[in-house]
Amino acid sequence: MILLNLMARNLFLLSLLILSLGLNSCNALSWGDNSSMDDIGQRCPPSPHPFSMCKSEAAAFGYPCEDHKVTTEDGYILSLKRIPHGRFDTNSTNNTRQPVLLFHGLMVDGVSWLLGTPKQSLGFLLADGGFDVWFANTRGTNTSRNHTSLSPKDPAYWNWTWDEIAAYDLPSVLELVYNHTGGQKVHYIGHSLGTLIILAAFSEHKVLHLVRSAVLLCPIAYLSRTKSKLTRLAAEIFLAEAFHFLGYHEFNPVGPVAHEILIQVCGNPEIDCYDLFSAVAGPDCCLNTSTTCAFLQHAPQSTSIKNLVHLSQMVRHQGIRRYDYGNAKDNMKHYNQPRPPLYNLSSIPTHVPMFLTHGGQDFLGDVPDTRHLLRTLVRSHDSDNIEVLYVPDYAHADFVIGFNAPQLVYAPMVDFFQRH
Ligand SMILES: *[C@@H]1O[C@H](CO)[C@@H](O)[C@H](O)[C@H]1NC(C)=O
Ligand SMILES: *[C@@H]1O[C@H](CO)[C@@H](O)[C@H](O)[C@H]1NC(C)=O
Ligand SMILES: *[C@@H]1O[C@H](CO)[C@@H](O)[C@H](O)[C@H]1NC(C)=O
Ligand SMILES: *[C@@H]1O[C@H](CO)[C@@H](O)[C@H](O)[C@H]1NC(C)=O
Ligand SMILES: *[C@@H]1O[C@H](CO)[C@@H](O)[C@H](O)[C@H]1NC(C)=O
Ligand SMILES: *[C@@H]1O[C@H](CO)[C@@H](O)[C@H](O)[C@H]1NC(C)=O
Ligand SMILES: *[C@@H]1O[C@H](CO)[C@@H](O)[C@H](O)[C@H]1NC(C)=O
Ligand SMILES: *[C@@H]1O[C@H](CO)[C@@H](O)[C@H](O)[C@H]1NC(C)=O
Ligand SMILES: *[C@@H]1O[C@H](CO)[C@@H](O)[C@H](O)[C@H]1NC(C)=O
Repeated sequence: MILLNLMARNLFLLSLLILSLGLNSCNALSWGDNSSMDDIGQRCPPSPHPFSMCKSEAAAFGYPCEDHKVTTEDGYILSLKRIPHGRFDTNSTNNTRQPVLLFHGLMVDGVSWLLGTPKQSLGFLLADGGFDVWFANTRGTNTSRNHTSLSPKDPAYWNWTWDEIAAYDLPSVLELVYNHTGGQKVHYIGHSLGTLIILAAFSEHKVLHLVRSAVLLCPIAYLSRTKSKLTRLAAEIFLAEAFHFLGYHEFNPVGPVAHEILIQVCGNPEIDCYDLFSAVAGPDCCLNTSTTCAFLQHAPQSTSIKNLVHLSQMVRHQGIRRYDYGNAKDNMKHYNQPRPPLYNLSSIPTHVPMFLTHGGQDFLGDVPDTRHLLRTLVRSHDSDNIEVLYVPDYAHADFVIGFNAPQLVYAPMVDFFQRH
C-alpha cells in the first residue's frame, strides 16, 4: 500500500505536466539535476509585483483596467477583467469598439494573456488595436474562488469538470460582456481548454446568439491520438482516478504536495526532468526567458481532480463525451442513458465564423487529433466562414506567449475579425 501510494504520488506530478498548459522552457529554465520549484526563484529574477492583473500587469503599462463579477447558475462567483480601450485612446465613450473575450486554458488564468510587453501580448495588442478586451477567469483560479454557498475547502466546491465550465461559466461570462457592451456580439478567443468548451457549447447550439466569431488557438477536442507518451501513460494507469478515489478534490499544482512530489520525481534517475515539459506538451520554439519567468511565477492555477479524470477519459476513448461516471447504472442516474451523452461536433452550425490555428510541434493539440477535428468541421463548414492557420514550428505555449505570435498568428486573426 505504501509503495502504491508512493507510486501514485510520484506520478501525480506527471499529471500536472501532462494536463497543464504545457510549457517547455527552451533550456533557459531547465529542470536539471537539482530540480524543484525553487529553481524558478533561482533562475528568474524576483517578480517585481504580485500578478494582480488590474493592479500590476495592466497598470504597469498604463492601460485602464476594470474588475467585474458574474455569478454562474450553479453559484460560482467569477471574476472578469476588462481593458476597455488602448493606452492612447482616452475617449471611453467610443462605442464603436467591438468586444473580444479571451478565454484561457487549463491550469492558468486570464493573466496569461498579458505576460509580455504591449507589443507582444495579445490582450494589450487588441486593446491598442481598437477592441474592448475582456478576460475570463474560470472557477477555481486565483480570482474566481468564491461561491454563493460553498468554500474551496468543501469537496463539493470541486465537483465539476469542463462540462460545467462549458455549461455555466462560458454562457455567464459571454452574457455579462454582451449585456455590458449594449448587446454587441462578442469575438471569442480561446486557447486549449478554452477551445474545447466553445466547441462543446456550439455543438449543442448554445451561446450562438452571443458570439460573433470564434478563434481557436491550439484547438483541443479529440485527445485519443496524442503523441505525448507521458499523457498516455498517466491516462492509461488511471492516475487522476486514483487521486479522486483517495479523496483529493482540488488539484493545486503549486501546493506543498505537488512541490514535494516534484523533488521526489526529479530525484528518480529514470525520469529525465530536464525536458519533462517538452515531453508533455511539445517543444515550444519561441519563448523569451522574461515571459517564461513571468509565466512560471504566476501559473499554474488550481483545477479539480474530477476535471483531470474527465480529460484522461478523453485520452483513453475516442469521441467527446460528458464525464463518465464509470458504469451504466451511475450514468443512467445522471444522464438517463448508460453512456455519457456525446458532444456531436458535426452538428455545429456551418455559418459560425471560425478561425483555427494549430502548431506542428504541439503534443497536446497534436496534429493527428487536430486533423480529425478539421475533417469534422471544415468539410461541411461554409468555406467563407472558416479559416485554418498551421504554424509548423509552434507548440502549445507559443500561441499565447511566443515572441513572434503577433506577426505569425495575431495579425491574421485580427484580419479575420475585420472580415466577420
Ligand atoms: C543544488 O542547489 C543548492 C542550492 O540551492 C546547491 O548548494 C547545490 O550545490 C546544488 N546541487 C547540485 C547537484 O547542483
Ligand atoms: C468620443 O467618441 C464619441 C463616439 O465616437 C464621439 O461622439 C465623441 O465626440 C468623442 N468625444 C471626444 C471628447 O472626443
Ligand atoms: C474609436 O475606436 C475606433 C476603433 O474601434 C478608433 O479607430 C477611433 O480612433 C476611436 N475614436 C476615438 C475618438 O477615440
Ligand atoms: C492569488 O495570488 C496572490 C498573488 O500572487 C497570492 O498572494 C494568493 O495567495 C493567491 N491566492 C490563491 C487562493 O491562490
Ligand atoms: C463571497 O461571496 C459571498 C456571497 O455572495 C459574499 O458574501 C462574500 O463577501 C464574498 N467574499 C469575497 C472575499 O468576495
Ligand atoms: C457531485 O455532483 C453530482 C451531480 O452532478 C452529484 O450526484 C454528487 O453527489 C456530487 N458529489 C459531491 C461530493 O458533491
Ligand atoms: C443579461 O441581461 C439579460 C436580459 O436583461 C438578463 O436576463 C441576464 O441575467 C443578464 N446576464 C448577465 C450575466 O448579466
Ligand atoms: C525574444 O527572443 C527573440 C529571439 O531570441 C529576440 O529576437 C527578441 O528580441 C526577444 N524579445 C524580448 C522582448 O526579449
Ligand atoms: C452528428 O450530427 C450530424 C449532423 O447533424 C448527424 O448527421 C450525425 O448523425 C450525428 N452523429 C451522432 C452520433 O449523433
